[in-house]
Amino acid sequence: MPIQIVRNDITKMKVDAIVNAANESLLGGGGVDGCIHRAAGPKLLEECRTLKGCPTGSAKLTKGYDLPCRYVIHAVGPVWKGGTCGEKELLESCCRTSLELAKEKQCESIAFPLISSGIYGYPKDKALHTAIEVVSEFLMDNDMLVYIVVFDKKAFNIGEKLFADIQEYIDDRYADEFLASESSRRLLQNREILYSEECMVLSASKSLDDALEMMDESFSEMLIRKIDESGMKDSECYKKANIDRKLFSKIHSDKYYKPKKTTVIAFAIALE
Ligand code: AR6
Repeated sequence: MPIQIVRNDITKMKVDAIVNAANESLLGGGGVDGCIHRAAGPKLLEECRTLKGCPTGSAKLTKGYDLPCRYVIHAVGPVWKGGTCGEKELLESCCRTSLELAKEKQCESIAFPLISSGIYGYPKDKALHTAIEVVSEFLMDNDMLVYIVVFDKKAFNIGEKLFADIQEYIDDRYADEFLASESSRRLLQNREILYSEECMVLSASKSLDDALEMMDESFSEMLIRKIDESGMKDSECYKKANIDRKLFSKIHSDKYYKPKKTTVIAFAIALE
């Protein structure tokens, strides 16, 4: 299922739900929180007052008011204290709770900022990595279009680096596949989401054709090579990637296997 890293202002995203990087009071603040409250209007704060705060690592949902989204999910990420105070687990848990809340409301699309990576000081590359991990795991069993929205160029470049090795495979093929799918047709009927000019979609790399021309290695060949290079056993790798053994055997034996995007991402993270 699709996951996209885009560079945009989250308040402009036409999705069912956007996630806010809030604090425990849920009464607004600076950063993306400030942007969201400004764009949603004063009714958002009124509803937030009724929620009586939210503990770190969790999330609560409100309506979107003047925003183009239906819901805002206020997630409270951890303050970075060097990484030894359970920050990763808290970040994972608020991302996961946000996804579950979106699922309860039958959201088909959701956009996340890099929670905790601004005022709360969480290193952006680590925050991005954790968000991708949680989202990829969720998408193994759920059908949702998830955007990870990065605001500044630096964070976007980190995303590119993280995907560099597999970028060739996260390409227009997947976009085409997605656009041809039933869920995208439903989404596109209702609103003109995605691929706005401001949305620089990481996967739509112009250099893709060049890259592919230079490479005659298939996904399955690349995977086998990468596993060898990592020194991991096959079983270690597919378990770490949370990929079913049968699926792994299929990929292994079919040179022309065309992986789903989540499969590629899962292996990329496992092999990192
Ligand atoms: N769209 C997308 N991303 C944005 C936007 C935007 N409009 N604005 C900022 N970012 P931060 P935190 C990025 O500081 O670290 C507030 O006061 C930004 O570049 O908003 O979780 C709350 O009330 C960064 O990568 O949230 C809390 O007190 C990311 O969003 C505290 O800040 C998160 O940065 C939470 O701090």
